[in-house]
Amino acid sequence: MPCLTWPFYYAKDKCMDEKEAREEIERLRKEIDYHNYRYYILDNPVVTDAEYDRLMRRLVELEEAFSHLVTPDSPTQRVGAKPLAAFGTIPHTQPMLSLNNAFTAEEAVEFDARIKRSLKTGPDEKIEYAAEPKLDGLAIELIYEDGVFTKGSTRGDGYVGEDVTLNLRTVRSIPLRLKHDTVKPPRYIEVRGEVFLPLESFRKLNREKEAKGEAPFANPRNAAAGSIRQLDPRITALRPLDIFCYGLGTVEGRQFKTHFETLELIKAVGLKVNPFARAVRGIDEVLKYHDEMEEKRESLNYELDGVVLKVNSIELQNKLGVITRSPRWALAYKFAPKQEATRVREIFVGVGRTGALTPVAVLDPVSVGGVTIERATLHNEDEVERKDVRPGDYVVVQRAGDVIPEIAYVLKDKRPEGKELERFRMPGNCPECGSMTEKIGAIHFCTGGLLCPAQLKESIRHFASTRAMDIEGLGGMHVEQFVNSGLLRDVADIYYLKDSELLKLERWAKKSVDNLLDAIERSKRPALERLIYALGIRGVGEHMARVLAGEFGDIDALAKATEEELMSTYEIGPETARSIADFFMERHNIGVLKKLEEAGVVFPKKEKKAGKLAGKVFLFTGTLKSFTRDEAKDIVEAAGGEAAGGVSKKVDYVVSGEEPGSKSQKARAMGLKIIDEEEFKKLIGK
Ligand code: IVH
Repeated sequence: MPCLTWPFYYAKDKCMDEKEAREEIERLRKEIDYHNYRYYILDNPVVTDAEYDRLMRRLVELEEAFSHLVTPDSPTQRVGAKPLAAFGTIPHTQPMLSLNNAFTAEEAVEFDARIKRSLKTGPDEKIEYAAEPKLDGLAIELIYEDGVFTKGSTRGDGYVGEDVTLNLRTVRSIPLRLKHDTVKPPRYIEVRGEVFLPLESFRKLNREKEAKGEAPFANPRNAAAGSIRQLDPRITALRPLDIFCYGLGTVEGRQFKTHFETLELIKAVGLKVNPFARAVRGIDEVLKYHDEMEEKRESLNYELDGVVLKVNSIELQNKLGVITRSPRWALAYKFAPKQEATRVREIFVGVGRTGALTPVAVLDPVSVGGVTIERATLHNEDEVERKDVRPGDYVVVQRAGDVIPEIAYVLKDKRPEGKELERFRMPGNCPECGSMTEKIGAIHFCTGGLLCPAQLKESIRHFASTRAMDIEGLGGMHVEQFVNSGLLRDVADIYYLKDSELLKLERWAKKSVDNLLDAIERSKRPALERLIYALGIRGVGEHMARVLAGEFGDIDALAKATEEELMSTYEIGPETARSIADFFMERHNIGVLKKLEEAGVVFPKKEKKAGKLAGKVFLFTGTLKSFTRDEAKDIVEAAGGEAAGGVSKKVDYVVSGEEPGSKSQKARAMGLKIIDEEEFKKLIGK
């Protein structure tokens, strides 16, 4: 029996009043906070994803029905904030200082000796240091008031930072409410730490950027900074940022004896501290810690650029004090940089799958951090100009986050005197096929499409790659060989390869041919998102492919979608929408799809649902009296219909409740059929 009058709300099997809702909401939030803590901080969850989702869904449902009970510290409030026009500023109540650097063991020893001189302790006495990994990310400050995360800022100039609260709210390991089961959090507390992007996510983000024809981030640090200093929090939310906290600013009503005690408090209130932070005594242990961490560095999922030493005793810290903008009691003892000098032999231009032309420097081989480097990407013409790299130059190359090595800067003093080195120019024609090039944004593209052998080879490699159709054994050299010998003219030709033809090629024997043909056969039943990703549509990386698969359900529906329909999907911007629509307008592409299907590649189809509302798409706007949104959606789906997320032409009925929002206006403007709650009830037979 539905409860029609506010504040009663029909939840599951009973009418609920505000008090009951308030209690259940609070219970759910506590439980979800706890599971977030287990998952994101301790990395040790105690419930299944499904159970977690159930709690979260129930909370969303209650908060939708009792929207005045939504508070900013609710776990539902992490994402979805609207883009900002500009960042505001937040002054730091205590300046965010920087650190003096040491690059060698001698410099670290000198730091320790200086401290002992200043403190007038004997030279043989051992100072206790808190030793921590130095993360290479972005320094930020978090403010909690009465246990609730209220403000977050960047370091800025040390005195005033940018207000990045909305973006920091999307970082899962930053609790929106502090834990208070083991200690009572101070009423006001400022926690400082380093936000970073784990290396795995960094590499994935760059792969996606490259798939879109965008310049990748040069290193994880830039990626983290770019993600936090991002005006649209919805973009930040897509980047799995993480944080380690390493210190405090102003704290109300609490005194600490050691730096380690501050770390203990940070941990106790539910924030993350790096697990390798350790107390060490004397400079010998410091040197050992540094070397141990330098070794560990290679196996970690985040970038370190050194270790940080802090005199552990706060009393001694105060005695030592601060000079200019760095404390005398702390030191960043850096690792040997993964940088070396070498010479640029030439700059050639490579052509990628999307036709993007990338200038690449060919180097005199040099070993950087144990890896021999012979090439370095220069990204695009603007980058070459900015760094002013010319063939013949001596340059410093570096490796960051295991990405393709890059040129840090040019050693201009080493340029030969009297003879000017020639500047690099991007060619007006594709070096592979001679087609004209066009510049879009910062990047030049070959206009030859799949007539360009370089683009063809790259698109076949992409199609067959592990994360796409996953055809084992169809990679680099083989694609080169098959395209050059005319066996592959498009990706569909893969499924028409014959053993008789393959056996004629150099280096192919019965066994390897059989293995390849088996792998090709096995790839014929791809998941929809993999198939979409494999097509190599500009702007469609793995994430976007998943979004499209979820939204459109099969290739046919996707191929038929107009630019406007695509754009009405959350996350698809105008450029990607155009690129997808263009892809399916191209006759050649449709031909390839047909050829794939004829060869037996199974295109996953959305199941046709039976039921009263089969094939009908509903969109809900405003508040309904008898159901929550989720209940209404469930009813539609149970009857074979579909609930849309946004206004688009595929919507058959817009169900408008009380106080409908902008969706309703937009729907009216598009001429969609709008019905009220009573009509909806009739349709579903209630
Ligand atoms: S302490 C007075 N600890 O390094 C102490 N900083 O050059 C100030 N950093 O801005 C910072 N890991 O972004 C500290 N364990 C750590 C750190 C760390 C990384 C960064 C931080 C800071 C910069 C100082």
